[in-house]
Amino acid sequence: MKILVVDDDLVSLNMLQEFLGKNHFEVFLAQNAEQAMQEVRAHHIQLVLSDIKMEESDGLSLLGDLKALYPKIVMIMMTGFGSMEGAIEAIQKGAFDYISKPFDLIKLLSLVNKAVKHVQSLGQDDEMDAGSLIEAPKALIGSSPKMVEVYKTIARATLSTSTVLIQGESGTGKELVARAIHSNSDRKSKKFVAVNCGALTETLLESELFGHVKGSFTGAQSDKKGLFEEANGGTLFLDEIGDISLGLQVKLLRVLQEGEIKPVGSNTQLKVNVRIVAATHRNLDEMVELSKFREDLFYRLKVIGLEIPPLRERKEDIAELAIVFLKKYSGKLKKKVNEISKEGLQSLFNYSWPGNVRELEHQIERAVALTSSSVLTSDDFNFTPVTGADQKLSNSGSSDQRSLEEMEKAHILSVLKQVDYNKSKASEVLGIDRATLYRKAQRYGITLKNE
Ligand SMILES: Nc1ncnc2c1ncn2[C@@H]1O[C@H](COP(=O)(O)OP(=O)(O)OP(=O)(O)O)[C@@H](O)[C@H]1O
Ligand SMILES: [Mg+2]
Repeated sequence: MKILVVDDDLVSLNMLQEFLGKNHFEVFLAQNAEQAMQEVRAHHIQLVLSDIKMEESDGLSLLGDLKALYPKIVMIMMTGFGSMEGAIEAIQKGAFDYISKPFDLIKLLSLVNKAVKHVQSLGQDDEMDAGSLIEAPKALIGSSPKMVEVYKTIARATLSTSTVLIQGESGTGKELVARAIHSNSDRKSKKFVAVNCGALTETLLESELFGHVKGSFTGAQSDKKGLFEEANGGTLFLDEIGDISLGLQVKLLRVLQEGEIKPVGSNTQLKVNVRIVAATHRNLDEMVELSKFREDLFYRLKVIGLEIPPLRERKEDIAELAIVFLKKYSGKLKKKVNEISKEGLQSLFNYSWPGNVRELEHQIERAVALTSSSVLTSDDFNFTPVTGADQKLSNSGSSDQRSLEEMEKAHILSVLKQVDYNKSKASEVLGIDRATLYRKAQRYGITLKNE
């Protein structure tokens, strides 16, 4: 098993190399975050042991960056300054464990062995790159007229290399659509490279996308190929495009217009042939209006626009999706659950699915995991209570009505208090006549004092 040790202290690096080497690990070393990123990429390393406080770099941001690029990476963080905050931060950022120095080598070894088991349980990623295609593209499910429109747009998109902008709420299947476009196009034998623009800092994203040359910034110790180059001939999926800074928007626009990239710190342009598919759950049209997203880039991206409707607007698809997920998870979890009762389906149908297909999939997975019966019923589902925000989403006229009425009642009450229940003053402030005030008070059960 390969392991990368990251520490700025040479003594500690050598000691760990010797110890882990003796214990049958293939040990790689790095003295800062930049080197660490390079080693992971070059040697497809899945297990990392890293110091937190280093001279040139911060182990926790390395953890964040590596996790964003390689979600399956397993990291153990070492610290000379053990603290609850540090431990919480490391674990929340996705560290597998956290150990404080000085540590007992035997204890370290048992921790590392536990991490190895974890790596094995996650399965080997033969393609470790951010952009790698982890599993074969699955077909999209759903046969509602709205999904059929989506399929048609996908089909048209596969016939050209125009840029596609996919918009849709979280969990509607934007990434699945992007993969479907690629795998049905004549670029399918080339790479599909995905990058989550929202997960990386501006500088890191820029050097990830365009690459950098040796010495272009502190710690850039060799040239690095960017994702545009990596995706050459294939498709680059820019996920969460609504999250990129205005500065990067300018650079991206230039690349799209010229078909050339300029690695960070380099003076030469590089021709690339990449099909761009971008996606966002944000309202880009509104961001353009608010000048948070460049209009020229918006139109450059949206040569082909594809909007995936939320699940609540294509409820016909719920049963079909639910059955497919039921088969998937009963197989995966090796449980004989083969049916959803009629009223169970009805309860799925009645829900508004703010988290869309992803939420439905999780709901079915959870129900299959927990049930002891072969039929799922509404009792097996656990819907998140509908909040005010969801009510707006659920498109139900009556709930909006209710909240409006509640607002009006609260407003009348507060005005009445302000004017010490003086009815003529209150009606003046509210802009209604006294008779209307009486009527509304009666309707909302407000007692008009001093009567
Ligand atoms: N039409 C569909 N058929 C089958 N599975 C789907 C469909 N739509 C979404 N899914 C599944 O739902 C989950 C979420 O899909 P995906 O990651 O593509 O959503 P997304 O729109 O990119 O969400 P986010 O904005 O949160 O990133 C995935 O597991 C995906 O396989
Ligand atoms: Mg997504």
